[in-house]
Amino acid sequence: MVQGDIKIFAAPLQGFTEAVWRNIHCEVFGGIDCYVTPFLRYEHGCIRNKDIRDIERKNNTVPHLIPQIIAANPEELASLMELIASEGYTEADINMGCSFALQVRKYHGAGLLPHPDKVAAIMNATRQYPDIKFSVKMRLGWEDKHEWHNILPILNETKLSHITLHPRLGSEQYLNAADIQEFAHFYEKCKHPLVYNGDITTIKQIEDILHQFPNLHGLMLGRGLLADPTLGIAYKQQHTFTNREKAALIATFHNKLYQTLSPRLQGNTQQLNKLKPYWEYLLPDMDKRSRKAIKKSTTVEKYLAAVNNALSNY
Ligand SMILES: Cc1cc2nc3c(=O)[nH]c(=O)nc-3n(C[C@H](O)[C@H](O)[C@H](O)COP(=O)(O)O)c2cc1C
Repeated sequence: MVQGDIKIFAAPLQGFTEAVWRNIHCEVFGGIDCYVTPFLRYEHGCIRNKDIRDIERKNNTVPHLIPQIIAANPEELASLMELIASEGYTEADINMGCSFALQVRKYHGAGLLPHPDKVAAIMNATRQYPDIKFSVKMRLGWEDKHEWHNILPILNETKLSHITLHPRLGSEQYLNAADIQEFAHFYEKCKHPLVYNGDITTIKQIEDILHQFPNLHGLMLGRGLLADPTLGIAYKQQHTFTNREKAALIATFHNKLYQTLSPRLQGNTQQLNKLKPYWEYLLPDMDKRSRKAIKKSTTVEKYLAAVNNALSNY
C-alpha cells in the first residue's frame, strides 16, 4: 500500500475542529487530505449563525472541506442542503453516528440506525441533489451491533462517495474497544469505498489497520489528531517527529489559535473555556504537573505561561 493511495480525513469534533482549528492545523501541520466539519443542524426552524459561519467559504482556507449535516428526515435535509449548495459545496456528509442523547432522541445521528425506514427516506431524498456527492459517517448501531445489517443494503443501493464507519455502538459512547471483528464483516459487505475511524493514535496503528484491510479508501483521525496534530503528516512523510520538533510546531499552532480566537472571545472566562479543553487531549504523555498547571490557570496570562512552560519541558 502506497501512502498516497490512502486518504487521511480529519474527523469532525464539535467544539474542537471548527474553521479556525482546521485552517491553522492545515497551515502548520498539513498531512490531511480532507477535513469534515462538525455537524450542521436544523433546529427550531433555523440553522445557528455560528454553524453557518463555520462553513462559509470566506472563513475556510483548507483545500478540501466536506460539510457534515445531521438530519432526521428529508425536510431537515432539504433545509441544510439549501445552505450547503448556496455556499457552492459539491459534497455533504450525513451523520449517522452522533451519540449525544439530545440528538439521538430526535432520530438524529446514531438515533437513526434502529430505523431503516427513516434511513431509506433520507437516502431517497439525496436523489434530489444529483450534483452533490453524499457520504455517510456511522456507527455499527445504536444499541445492537447488528443494526447495520438492515442499514447497509439501503446505503449500498444509494449513490455515495464513501462510508466512514466507527465500529462502536452509539449507546457505548466511547466505552469498550472499537469492534474490529464487526468492522471486518461490514468491510466484506460494503459496496462503497470505506473509511475506518476509531482510536487511532500512532502510525503503527494506521499501518496495522491498512494491513488488515488493504482495500480501505481511507482513515479518519479524531481524538488521536487532537492529541498529536502531526499524526497525518508523520504517516504521509514516514517521519517520526522528536518531542522538540512536536513542541515547536504545537507552540506555533497554539499561538496562532490564541491570536485568532482571543479577539472573538471576551474576558478570561470565555478565552480559557475555549482553549483549555484542547489540553484534555494534546500531548497525552506530557508530565502531569505541566498539564495540571494549564488546567488550574485562572487568567489568560497564567494560562499562556503554563502552556509555554509545558511545551519547553516536553
Ligand atoms: C467532542 C467530540 C465531538 C464530536 N463531534 C462529532 C461531530 O460533530 N460529527 C461526527 O460525525 N462525529 C463527531 N464526533 C465523533 C468523532 O468524529 C469520531 O467518530 C470519534 O471520536 C471516534 O474517532 P477517534 O477515536 O479517532 O476520536 C465527536 C467526538 C467527540 C469526542
